[in-house]
Amino acid sequence: MCGIVGYIGNKSAAPFLLDGLTKLEYRGYDSAGIAVFDAHDVFIEKSVGRLDALKEKLKGVTLDGVIGIGHTRWATHGRPSDQNAHPHTDCNGEFVVVHNGIIENFMPLKEALIAKGHHFTSETDTEVVAHLIEEFYEGDFAAAVRAVLKKIEGSYSLVFMSEKHPDTLICAKQDNPLVVGLGDGENFIASDIPAIISRTRRTYILNDGEIAIVKKDSVEITDREGKPVDKKIFHVSWNAEAAEKGGYEHFMLKEINEQPKAVRDTMSKRVAKDGSRITLDELNWSKEFLDGIDKVYIVACGTAYHAGLVGKFYIEKLARILVEVDLASEFRYRDPIVDEKTLVIVISQSGETSDTLAALKEAKRRGARTLAVTNVVGSSIAREADQVVHTWAGPEIAVASTKAYTTQLILMFMLALYMAQLRSTVSDERARELIGLLKKIPAQISETLSDVEPIKTFARRYGFNEDVFYIGRSLDYDVALEGALKLKEISYIHAEAYASGELKHGTLALIVEGVPVIALATQKSVYEKTISNIKEVKARDAVVIGIAADGDEEIGKFVDHVMFVPDTDELLIPLLAVVPLQLLAYYAAITRGCDVDKPRNLAKSVTVE
Ligand code: G6P
Repeated sequence: MCGIVGYIGNKSAAPFLLDGLTKLEYRGYDSAGIAVFDAHDVFIEKSVGRLDALKEKLKGVTLDGVIGIGHTRWATHGRPSDQNAHPHTDCNGEFVVVHNGIIENFMPLKEALIAKGHHFTSETDTEVVAHLIEEFYEGDFAAAVRAVLKKIEGSYSLVFMSEKHPDTLICAKQDNPLVVGLGDGENFIASDIPAIISRTRRTYILNDGEIAIVKKDSVEITDREGKPVDKKIFHVSWNAEAAEKGGYEHFMLKEINEQPKAVRDTMSKRVAKDGSRITLDELNWSKEFLDGIDKVYIVACGTAYHAGLVGKFYIEKLARILVEVDLASEFRYRDPIVDEKTLVIVISQSGETSDTLAALKEAKRRGARTLAVTNVVGSSIAREADQVVHTWAGPEIAVASTKAYTTQLILMFMLALYMAQLRSTVSDERARELIGLLKKIPAQISETLSDVEPIKTFARRYGFNEDVFYIGRSLDYDVALEGALKLKEISYIHAEAYASGELKHGTLALIVEGVPVIALATQKSVYEKTISNIKEVKARDAVVIGIAADGDEEIGKFVDHVMFVPDTDELLIPLLAVVPLQLLAYYAAITRGCDVDKPRNLAKSVTVE
């Protein structure tokens, strides 16, 4: 999510830090900061806003220090502000730290540190790390870092700098990328290769649990116990553009592949350790609060609207509250029946879509309680809503939304289960079962992503068709809508999704020999009905590609090809079923030579009506 850089050598650190951060700005860009150590002091400058705002503040400042760290932030804990921007320091400014990730247990740690007299200046989870090292330091920098790592839970890439050790940077990694670049008489640290590629191609790519002690002439890598790790040098062969995309050809493909992590991050801290409950601490709702709500409205645009459709299913099924879903551009002009007993949930990746923002304001004007589900901390929608729950997908760059969708789905699922538990509309046993399955979803998405060859073959075979139809029932229909949107927005193929039961009421007239039909058949409760719809299109000689759950031995009898996804509860399977559809759209667009990341006529964030 955030970008991290570090430098130690013989040259002035600041130019590399600013250049490296510029290369990483695509990772997050709501604030930035650097810390440079000269002969006597640590100089820190930070600024909310794009990196240019920091550069502006540094104009005219001479920085000669040869050791430094920098950070460009994508806010998670604490809104974007100068105070919350990294680097962060301990009470005396002797230890400086930058961090990418989420420290899950930061609240109890912070409380304990405050009780011991530590003074905090930001709202971030990261600042506890700086105070912890102050607490543990007894003269050995690396030992203090190791002690800190034993205390913190969650995901991180961290870089530490200390006034007391002006010849050393220490970095550590868990579930977030970190790379050490090897130079001559100088070494570099970065969260991603683009930051260092212009300086060196010799790197150590750190693994989870590894710590690097970086000096200008040496790099020592150990595990968390301090035991040396024998590391091979990785020579980077990518060009700068490929490096920015993590070696993938397009941001969209990178983001599709980031889904296991994005979903895991979005779940993190929101499931009780014993697997019994969903804990959305940011909401702090009660049964009484929910008893005061007689209707939920979910309002959004585009892919977020499709996530809302799935959200309706979840809330109605689990929490048994009536849910309406509306497009923001319709809702705002509909004279909607909304009052103080209505909960309006707006979903928006960017938090800036103007129709969604206007709909939210309209809902507030009518007295509704409002909740935003968004990926961007401090966005207009996040600020406007009464309450916010964030998806932790990290910046999404490709116009076609992928990881935002799956994180919105997982969040809507958790929200529905949270509401259901408060209302006692699910049994403890069912809740446990669902939470157990929920935890498996990131690994199951990885499994789905592991074999793309059949999808590439379908894309090559059907990528030049003019029309593609998607059909499904129940949640399969909602996923079909998203699959069709993905295909049309990036490959420009005319793609339509229909509820299978509606076929007979018109669409069947369009099904002729050779027309591809993607038939989703993952919903066990309507499986037989889905099969009979598949037979209807097969009887018109359509080419049917089924999407089904592993273990389905029937489907192969009725379709031409099948793409299997791992099996899970039918409520959760949309998170898996959508993945082959994203990939199919991606490879179809490649087959047709389309500009995948920047489709014609479309924008990532629609901030005009
Ligand atoms: C644009 C994007 C879509 C997105 C929609 C809503 O159309 O291209 O990918 O789903 O806006 O955006 P939001 O940021 O509100 O989720």
